[in-house]
Amino acid sequence: MTNGSPLIRLVHVTREFKTPAGVIKAVDDVSLDLDRGEAICLVGESGCGKTTTGRLLAGLLRPTSGELLFEGNDVWRSRGADQVRFRRAVQLVHQDPYASLNPVRTVEQVLAAPLRHHRKAQTAKQARAAARSLLQRVGLTPPDDFLHKFPHQLSGGQRQRVSIARALTVDPRVIVADEAVSMVDVSIRITLLDLLLGLRDEFGVSIVLITHDLAVARYFGRAGRIAVMYLGRVVELSATQELIDDPAHPYATALIGAIPEADPDLTRSKQRLPLKSADVPSLLRLPPGCSFHPRCPRAEAGLCDVLVPALTPIGGTRSVACHVAVRERTALAAATGPFRFDLPWVDIDKSEGSAG
Ligand SMILES: Nc1ncnc2c1ncn2[C@@H]1O[C@H](COP(=O)(O)OP(=O)(O)O)[C@@H](O)[C@H]1O
Ligand SMILES: [Mg+2]
Repeated sequence: MTNGSPLIRLVHVTREFKTPAGVIKAVDDVSLDLDRGEAICLVGESGCGKTTTGRLLAGLLRPTSGELLFEGNDVWRSRGADQVRFRRAVQLVHQDPYASLNPVRTVEQVLAAPLRHHRKAQTAKQARAAARSLLQRVGLTPPDDFLHKFPHQLSGGQRQRVSIARALTVDPRVIVADEAVSMVDVSIRITLLDLLLGLRDEFGVSIVLITHDLAVARYFGRAGRIAVMYLGRVVELSATQELIDDPAHPYATALIGAIPEADPDLTRSKQRLPLKSADVPSLLRLPPGCSFHPRCPRAEAGLCDVLVPALTPIGGTRSVACHVAVRERTALAAATGPFRFDLPWVDIDKSEGSAG
């Protein structure tokens, strides 16, 4: 049984691409676990490898090295029924529904095709009924107003809802939403994020939201985790609120300092960390050591420009890939007592005399 293991795991996954100028590592040694019903947000500047990570998670790209596990099984070594099960389990929703919805198909046709293909509906009548209930689930009501519309007759937010409805046709366990809210207005963005979170709450669907916008990540990830990426690596991974309140990595600190706040007091009180340079190095010529060191105001010569920092647990839910932050945080932990690992089930076992 694999019930105790995470639903999906990337284990030391690297993905290279050959480009005319040379080979790049778009994703470099990324390990990430996704639990059932978990919401996790991948955030970082354009080109840092978010989409590649999303495609690796969805099994659409094969890792150059490392493994993708689904319920403990190596996806790229499984075949037959296991492959099919994985393909249905993980659905990708793209940034631009205009590009992913066929312009000559009505909403009903868009939804009926996968319903029939995956035998969720046997007849046209059943498919229409199922399409109606999916439209209801994604807030396109009354559904009969939408069934016969073409993508161009819908607003951006409505098109994105149709994309989400299409992903739901196969009862997915995971939705990877890649910049799925980036092309719509701010007010619509919130309702789409709420829709995705609602799917998690109601149906236990795990959601991976990919965004370059930390304000979106903060809103979405309130009850989940954030992975901050930089040049193909995860540099900080933490429960969202902890990371927002107290970022450990200098890059995360800089990103959070740059989120615009409606409240001027909050804006003034925010920790700011000006970077030494705005330029992101090319993946073709990565700096030695920590690839963030040329921009980092806290970088130490002889350390950060020499050694690549590994993503290191610093207590609680948190991990960070920064020599300086790890040293400080572990020193702090040593000064205030040993690391406390919270193992609530130990206490429960003792007090209730039951084994989980
Ligand atoms: N199919 C590909 N071939 C070559 N390079 C690619 C390919 N896909 C992505 N890349 C490169 O990999 C890097 C990471 O891209 P991507 O994962 O799309 O980043 P993000 O989504 O964070 O903007 C970029 O430098 C991009 O140009
Ligand atoms: Mg992208």
